Amino acid sequence: MKDYKNSNLKFWDSIVQEHVQSDFYDVSGFLKGKTSLDSLELEVVGDISGQTLLHLQCHFGLSTLSWVRLGAIATGVDFSPAAISAANELSKKSGLCARFIESNIYNISSTLDEKFDIVFASYGVLCWLPDLTNWAKEIAQCMKIGGRFHLIEYHPLMTALDAGLGNDVVLKNSYFNEGVEILEAQGSYAIPESSIKNHTYEWSHSIGEVITSLLEAGLHLDNFMEYPYATEGSFVSYLRKSDDGKWRAPDHKWGVPLSYSLSVSKK
Ligand SMILES: C[S@@+](CC[C@H](N)C(=O)[O-])C[C@H]1O[C@@H](n2cnc3c(N)ncnc32)[C@H](O)[C@@H]1O
Repeated sequence: MKDYKNSNLKFWDSIVQEHVQSDFYDVSGFLKGKTSLDSLELEVVGDISGQTLLHLQCHFGLSTLSWVRLGAIATGVDFSPAAISAANELSKKSGLCARFIESNIYNISSTLDEKFDIVFASYGVLCWLPDLTNWAKEIAQCMKIGGRFHLIEYHPLMTALDAGLGNDVVLKNSYFNEGVEILEAQGSYAIPESSIKNHTYEWSHSIGEVITSLLEAGLHLDNFMEYPYATEGSFVSYLRKSDDGKWRAPDHKWGVPLSYSLSVSKK
């Protein structure tokens, strides 16, 4: 457990360049003007033009720069030096200007010298964090009075499930946070065929845990939604892509929540 940060950092540093070149992230499409933000992210966050935006766990900055293209004054933060360096390179290449800062999420409020109108994080961020109490406190510290935090994330139930026989879906892990899960795997959600080996430490955070941590940090819940689809699910064994491009459990009548969004504000 003592090694969790070093192991996770090693994995993220090692995979960045392959992600930049992957079809999954489609950097060439982005450079031609495509956004990396999906319909849920755009709808939940809304108009950000002229606002200061802090993007947490920004990876190599693709979504941070997509917000810049929509008019945000953006700062991206990630603990991976390789990700921050790739983000700065992408900023130069695209001609879109953002500030990228290397920081562990648990130190952001002391690393940053400003407070933001909008704090944003999405997809595949919470599973890397052992503790949401301090995560929520850091977020609250970075928000202006009247500022908002938007989270769009895969549902913890989606990651607790796995493919069974035929169209069956079975419970693989606990939905609740029962402590660290140490995973040995190869490749990533974006490049399953990659030869990069990883030894990572991950956590499941129930919806109750996420919301309670934000409320206890003094934030006000404005909106919370669960969705029976994920906008990307190519890396989830039991999901199937529907005609509308969204990923769903094979038998739609089950109504499994696969993603969620929440918005909180600082009064
Ligand atoms: C799935 S990725 C980012 C998701 C983003 N939606 C994307 O696809 O670009 C998760 C990111 O979290 C970062 N990360 C993991 N643990 C962190 C920590 N403790 N502090 C800051 N960043 C962290 C990783 O470096 C990685 O870039």
